[in-house]
Amino acid sequence: MAKRNIRLSTEEILRKTCKEVKEITPNVIALLDDMAETMYDANGVGLAAPQVGVLKRVVIIDVGDGLVELINPVIVETKGSVIDYEGCLSIPGMSALVDRPEYAKARAINRNGQEIFVEGKDLMARAICHEIDHLDGVLYIDKAIPEEDEE
Ligand code: NI
Repeated sequence: MAKRNIRLSTEEILRKTCKEVKEITPNVIALLDDMAETMYDANGVGLAAPQVGVLKRVVIIDVGDGLVELINPVIVETKGSVIDYEGCLSIPGMSALVDRPEYAKARAINRNGQEIFVEGKDLMARAICHEIDHLDGVLYIDKAIPEEDEE
């Protein structure tokens, strides 16, 4: 495993649409391993492949319940709505309010090529939506709710 450089939101690559993974090659396995090392090193709860400069539909999430690896993830169900603060490793030191589903469920494949379903509420739902957005070049700042100045 090796840590990779986290790309910043100002870089064009974070605005591109990622390609589906057609075959789980050793490169894809290495990407997953490196992404985990990179995410944990940065104390993040999620990371998407374009954040390490790879335009593949791969994300990882760990909100404290263990590592989840999602290849070609698609959101299949959402419920409710929660406005809460959200950040991104590609936008260091910032956070903003974003409206996300209270519950989200995604279908994906794992590193063994098996179909999996991942679901969660609150932070997990937020992470699922945030990371999958990255695969289509969408950042949370695009969805941030402006806060009223309190003076
Ligand atoms: Ni992010």
